[in-house]
Order: sequence, then structure tokens, then C-alpha cells
Amino acid sequence: MKSSITVTDNRTGKAYEFDILDGTRGPSVVNIGSFYAQTGLFTYDNGYTSTASCTSNITFIDGEKGELRYRGIEIEELAENRSYLEVCYLLLNEKLPSQEECALFDLELRHRSFLHEGLTNLFNSFPSGSHPMATLSAATAALSTFHFNHLDINDEAEYQTMARRIVAKMPTIAAFAYRHSIGAGFIQPDIDKSFTENFLYMMRAYPGGKMHRDLSGERTIKPIEIQALDTIFTLHADHEQNASTTAVRNIASTGAHPYVAISAGISALWGRAHGGANESVIKQLEMIGSVENVDAFIQRAKDPKDDFRLMGFGHRVYKNFDPRAKVLKGLQVQLQEELHLDSNLMQIARKIEEIALSDEYFISRKLYPNIDFYSGIILTALQIPTSMFTPIFVIGRTIGWISQWIEFKKGKGMKIARPRQLYLGK
Ligand code: CMC
Repeated sequence: MKSSITVTDNRTGKAYEFDILDGTRGPSVVNIGSFYAQTGLFTYDNGYTSTASCTSNITFIDGEKGELRYRGIEIEELAENRSYLEVCYLLLNEKLPSQEECALFDLELRHRSFLHEGLTNLFNSFPSGSHPMATLSAATAALSTFHFNHLDINDEAEYQTMARRIVAKMPTIAAFAYRHSIGAGFIQPDIDKSFTENFLYMMRAYPGGKMHRDLSGERTIKPIEIQALDTIFTLHADHEQNASTTAVRNIASTGAHPYVAISAGISALWGRAHGGANESVIKQLEMIGSVENVDAFIQRAKDPKDDFRLMGFGHRVYKNFDPRAKVLKGLQVQLQEELHLDSNLMQIARKIEEIALSDEYFISRKLYPNIDFYSGIILTALQIPTSMFTPIFVIGRTIGWISQWIEFKKGKGMKIARPRQLYLGK
């Protein structure tokens, strides 16, 4: 059997043949690289719903089955049994680390977590109250000015260092962006603390590094909080060719610095159709206000004349369930038990989930709760300020963006991203 597809132009009856390429998992693709040269036509695919923009061996998603794998390993296995740093190592090095490799990786990240004083000063130039996502994107682009002159963008050892540096610094940049937004002095990283604990510490500590006190003593960071946030980072680590990763790859294709590519990824992630949804979920739950109001908002979400959408529902790829949401749902139950949480927001969320999962509108359109539906609720339970929800997504996703950037750089025959258009103007 020939592995090709024939397309007939019904205007002329002329037939054209294109090769079918097979991957190791998932649908095969039609190679239409010569489509224009052969037919004089462009292809049109609004929102890239049927387009594979690259080859990759990092992350695989089967949206029909609700399956997600990093480097071939199922997300459930990684979330349950591996730390976020092990997952970062896996994404970068295509294998899980040994104990010693993990310890060395961890130490390197701790030492690289500090920011140049020049970059630290930059935060104070932004208006107070600025959203941490805006500051985060700007500061990440600015980081390229500190690591530019000596960079050989084509040397693998150098860009591997660039990768570990950006992963190490992102929690510090995010924590500084937050502290600036509330007018609090910066807390420097503490190399005695793990990646995830350090981030919580830099966000929460008082000057001098002490934590909040009440009559029962200092409110130290609980192991369950570190574990929950670590899992959230793992679940966000990569997600193949989504909007922000596509932005990063497009910029990689021009040969620009990796940190400006990641800054663009951060900007793309901010939108509420993408990573910004976690912040919108909580704002929406607060707007709904009580369990009694849920029905009215579900009606609005179903009304084609109303542009109100249920935040945290639906996904371009997952049409069965979002496996990341499933892990988070389990984590939510665990947190509820261990931290004795049962807030009004959780009750509203439970009610929405219950109705939406049994309602014909949502079932027929395959709209299920996505990762952002649960992460917003869990981050609220962890007392993370709402404006930091999407920055937390950024911290987790930085490893994915830089791994995809590296894969692009190492790829043979990669071309600048340059789509065409269907012109409808004068
Ligand atoms: N609430 C109500 N209706 C919805 C929703 C929703 N959240 N999402 C999709 N629909 C409807 C939509 O109106 C359309 O209905 P119809 O066929 O009658 O016109 C149908 O479902 C298909 O929607 P679509 O917009 O064509 O689907 P898409 O694949 O282009 O969009 C999405 C995917 C995630 C942007 C969209 O589902 C959405 O806006 N969801 C809310 C925002 C959200 O939670 N985003 C986070 C995504 S997960 C994090 C990440 O990986 O980025």
C-alpha cells in the first residue's frame, strides 16, 4: 500500500499526490511542504486545528484518550512518583536522572537562582500595582541583556547552560514581580531551600527571612504545600505545540535569543483562553458568589447570544478528560482533608462541575474541566494570591519552552516560520 494521499482539484480534475509521514504515536501527517509549488494554492486552517507545525519527541498528547506523556512517560506516573526537578531533568536530557545527577542538578539550580543587581533594580521602574505577568515578561526579556555578549547561540553546551539558568531564575523573577506589585522588599533566594520551597519562601517571608507569626508561633511552609505546588509545576511542565510554545518556536525560527522567545511565551500564556484561565476561574467563582447562583451562570454559558464562557472548561485537544485535571482533582481532595478546607469557592466549583458533567450542552461539545479549573482552586487553598496563578504556570512551563527551543535549534533543516494568507482586502 502506498503511503500517500491524492488531492483532486475539482475545478480542473487535476490530481496531486502527497506523502503521508508516520510518527511513533498519534495521527500520521500529510506532508504538504510542496503543496503551493505543485498546485498554486495555499492551505487554510484557522487556529491550526489540523496542522502539525513541527516534528517533536518531547511531549505526546492523545486528546481522545486523555493521555499525556513527557519523553514517553505518563503524566500520572511522573506526578505521583517524581519531583518537579526530576521532570525538568527528563525534559532536558531525555532521561530521568540518577540520584547523584538529580542532586547535582538541584545544587546547580540553587546556585543559579540569584538575580544580577541590575535586573533587580529594573523591577522598581515598573509602576506599583503592575500585574506580575507583565513584569515577568519584561524582566525575562531584560535577562537576555545580562547574558548576551558571550553567548554562542549555536553551541549546545552553552544553550544547555542557558536552559538551566532560566529555569533556576524564573521563581526568583516571579517572586520579585509579586513583591514589587504589593510594594514589599525583595527576599533573596535561600540556597538551603529546595526549588519549590524557595519560591514560596521568597513570596511569603518578611524582611530578615522570618515567616508570619500568630499566637501559636511562626507559620512555616508545610510539606504538603511544597508537595502540592511541586505537583502543579510538574503538570504544567510541557504541553506540546500550544499557543505559547508555538510563539517560542516561531521566535526560535528567527534566530533570536532564547530568553526573548520565552518572554513572548509568557505574554502568549497570559491570555484567558490559555494560561490566564486559572486566574479567571477564581474571579468567575467569586462573581458567581454562591451555590444558588450557579444555574443562572450555566444558562448564560449555554446561550449562543451571550459570550460568557465557563472558565476552566473545554480544551482544543482533550475531548475526553484532561489527565492533568484528574491528578489535580485527587490533590484537591487530599488538601481538603489535610488542611481541613471547604471554602465557599470550592462548593461553587463542585456544583458547576456536577451540573456541567451531566448537561447535554457540555457533553455534546466534549467540554470537561481542564487543568485551570482545579489549579485555581488549589492555589487559592494554598493561599497564593490570585495575580500569581498564571506566573506559577510560567514557572512550571519554562522548562517546556526551553526544551522546545533547544529541540528547534538542534533540528535539521528548520525554516523560519512564515505562514501565508487568504487576502480579502482591496
Ligand atoms: N463554556 C461554554 N461553552 C464553551 C466553552 C466554555 N468554556 N468552551 C467552548 N465552548 C463551546 C463554544 O461556544 C462552541 O460552541 P458551538 O459549537 O455551539 O459554537 C464549542 O464549545 C467549541 O468551542 P471552540 O471555541 O470552537 O473550541 P476551541 O478548541 O477553539 O477552544 C478553549 C478551546 C480552551 C479556548 C475554549 O474551550 C475556552 O475558551 N475555554 C475557557 C477558557 C479556558 O479554560 N482555557 C484554558 C485551557 S487549558 C490551559 C491551557 O492548556 O492553555
